[in-house]
This record gives sequence, structure tokens and C-alpha cells, in this order.
Amino acid sequence: MRKKIVAGNWKMNNSLNRGIELAAEINKMVRKQDDHDVTVVLSPPYIHLADVARIVDKDAVAVAAQNCASEPKGAYTGEISVKMIKSTGAEYIIIGHSERRTYYHEDHGLLKQKVKLTLENSLIPIFCCGEHLNEREANNHFEVVKQQLTDSLFDLPAHEFGKVVVAYEPVWAIGTGVTASSEQAQEMHAYIRSIIADKYGDEVAENTSILYGGSCKPSNAKELFGNKDVDGGLIGGASLEASDFFAIINSF
Ligand code: PGA
Repeated sequence: MRKKIVAGNWKMNNSLNRGIELAAEINKMVRKQDDHDVTVVLSPPYIHLADVARIVDKDAVAVAAQNCASEPKGAYTGEISVKMIKSTGAEYIIIGHSERRTYYHEDHGLLKQKVKLTLENSLIPIFCCGEHLNEREANNHFEVVKQQLTDSLFDLPAHEFGKVVVAYEPVWAIGTGVTASSEQAQEMHAYIRSIIADKYGDEVAENTSILYGGSCKPSNAKELFGNKDVDGGLIGGASLEASDFFAIINSF
């Protein structure tokens, strides 16, 4: 059975103190709940990771880094390695977010290396894919997403791919307030699952969690998560307020 996951991507927001406070608020809300059906993940900036991982209850809230270095160690000023991330207690790493692809020119070869290092260190990649608006308008969205998955993930053997979480994030929906419709999300998620099945077989495809990201908020989460192939969300803006984020978690 695949996991339902709601992950909050704080991006470059919150001072360390506010981050710790927010993590504690969310942890408290999640802990109180009896039903732990949904895996809750917080993805704060690097400098918050160790503190956030320390204050949350491991069985209630997991922690993710937003990025990692593509090299294992050494003279790479300003970079943070997967091993360092692991040493904080984080269990997941977001890889290939469209903001990394666009602003920092991360290409598929680099992302492939990051995925490999993440898996080698027994952490879980949350691999982001998604098309730009012009690509959707040109009806190329399926092809674009297929290429992203093929280039960075489909070299993995099945037992390694089986550990990956996929996040479909149409770039035109990220931070814009425009959400993919429930039909658009389901259509793409079903397509992603079908290409995973073509490559790795039905069992791996059925066990892969595919999250939706892009202006997901309390008012639309229920409809999005109600789709058969939408296994949760990667939440940006709405993860910065504990009550909004908790409402999204409870939308399942
Ligand atoms: P958003 O961001 O929810 O603010 O649109 C989602 C993401 O980039 O992961």
C-alpha cells in the first residue's frame, strides 16, 4: 500500500526561531490526532533542519531537506551533502524542484546524481516534475514529464525506484494561486503511474506515492486528494501557517 504524504516546503522563509515555533505547533496538532494514516513531512531551510528534527516526534512528523549537493563531500564551498543532511535526522530530500531547475539551472544529469546519493544514504528522494505553461498550452505536458522522469529516475533498478516519492508540480501553478483542476491533476498522476508501470511493472507503480504541488490550500486540498492517483501534496505557501497546513493534512 502506498503512503499518503503531506509535505510542507517552507522554501526560503522563516527565521530559525519562527521555524522552530512553527514545527512545534504542527507537531503538537499532528500528535494529538489518533489517526496517523498520513505521513507528515516538514521541509525547512538547511539551517533549521537539526533543530526541527530534534523537536518533532519522529513517529508523527518527518523532516526533509529542500535540496542537497550533487557531490558526496569535499571542496564545494556553500554546499550541503546528503550525509550532513542525514546526520541532522532528516529522512527525505526534495530533488528537482522547479525553482532549482529554473533559477539554479539544475539539469537532469545533476538531478540524477542527487537522487543516487540520496538513495545510497538511505534517504528518500521527493522527486519533482512538471511542465511550464507554454508546454501545457502546446499540449506537450505529458512528454515533458515523461522526459524528466526518464532522464533522472528511470536508470534506477526497480528496488531503488520503489523508494522514490514523485511530486507532480505544474510550474504554472506554483505560488500563482492557480491550481491545476482536479481533473488535470488526476489525468497527469494516472499518466505518471502508467509510465512507471511500463518501466517497472504494476506492483511498483501501485506502490509509488505521487504528490500534487502547486497552490494547494485548505479550500482545494480535499478535491485534489479525493482523486484515486493523488497520494498527497507538496505544499508551499499554505505550509507556513500551522492551521492551514493542518487543515490540508486533514483533507484526506
Ligand atoms: P505553492 O508551492 O504551494 O506555494 O504553490 C508548492 C511548491 O513549490 O512546492
